[in-house]
Amino acid sequence: MNNIYAIIFDLDGVICSTDQYHYLAWKALADRLGIYFDEEINGQLRGVSRMESLEIVLGKHSSDYSAEEKMALAAEKNEIYKSYLASITPGDLSKEVRMTLHTLRQRGYLLAIGSSSKNTKQILTQLGLGQFFDAIADGTMITKSKPDPEVFLLAASMLGVSPENAIVIEDAESGIRAAKAGRFRAIGIKSDGNDPDSDITIKSLKNLIDIL
Ligand code: BG6
Ligand code: MG
Repeated sequence: MNNIYAIIFDLDGVICSTDQYHYLAWKALADRLGIYFDEEINGQLRGVSRMESLEIVLGKHSSDYSAEEKMALAAEKNEIYKSYLASITPGDLSKEVRMTLHTLRQRGYLLAIGSSSKNTKQILTQLGLGQFFDAIADGTMITKSKPDPEVFLLAASMLGVSPENAIVIEDAESGIRAAKAGRFRAIGIKSDGNDPDSDITIKSLKNLIDIL
C-alpha cells in the first residue's frame, strides 16, 4: 500500500480476545435484571461505548431506569468485567499478534491504538504492551464513540500523521464506519467472508504483513 506511515489498531477483538469477557459481564448483569441477552445481541456491542452498550442491553426496558440507576448498572457491569480482566497476563497475547506487531515495527510503521474502551491502558499493561505503542487514544479521551471517527482522528493527530497516510484495523462494523468517516483506509478482520464496508478484509491479523 502506498503512502502508509501509520497503523491504528482497535483493541478488543483485534489485539486481544476480550469480547468474551464483555459478553460474560453483560450476561451476568442482564440475568440479574431478568432481561434476555445472548451472543447475537453481544455482537451489536462491539466498538460501542459502555453507556451506549447498556442502552442496547436494556432495550425496551431502558425507560424503567433513571439516569443515576443506569450509571450504577454500567459501573456494576464494569466491575464484573474488570474481575475477568484481572486474569490477563502477557501469555494471553497470541503469538500471531506479537509477531505481527514486531514485524510492522521493524518495517518502520508508527503504531497506535484507537479504542472505545476506558479499560484500554489496563489491558495493554497486563498484556505487556503498556509501553509498546507510539500513541494510545481510548474511551477516556473522547466524547463521541465509534462510528464517530473521533478516537481514530485523535490517534492520528497524536502520531502527527494525516488520515490518508494511516490505516485502521477493525473487527467491528461501527469501527469500520468510524475509519471511513475519518477518511482512513479501513481494513476489516473477519474470519468468515467479506466486510462490505472495509477497503480490504483479512482473515487474521498476520495477513497484514502480506498486504502492506
Ligand atoms: C470496545 C468494545 O472496545 O469498548 C465494546 O468493543 C465496549 O464492546 C467498549 O463496550 C467500551 O469498553 P469499556 O471497557 O470502556 O467498558
Ligand atoms: Mg473491536
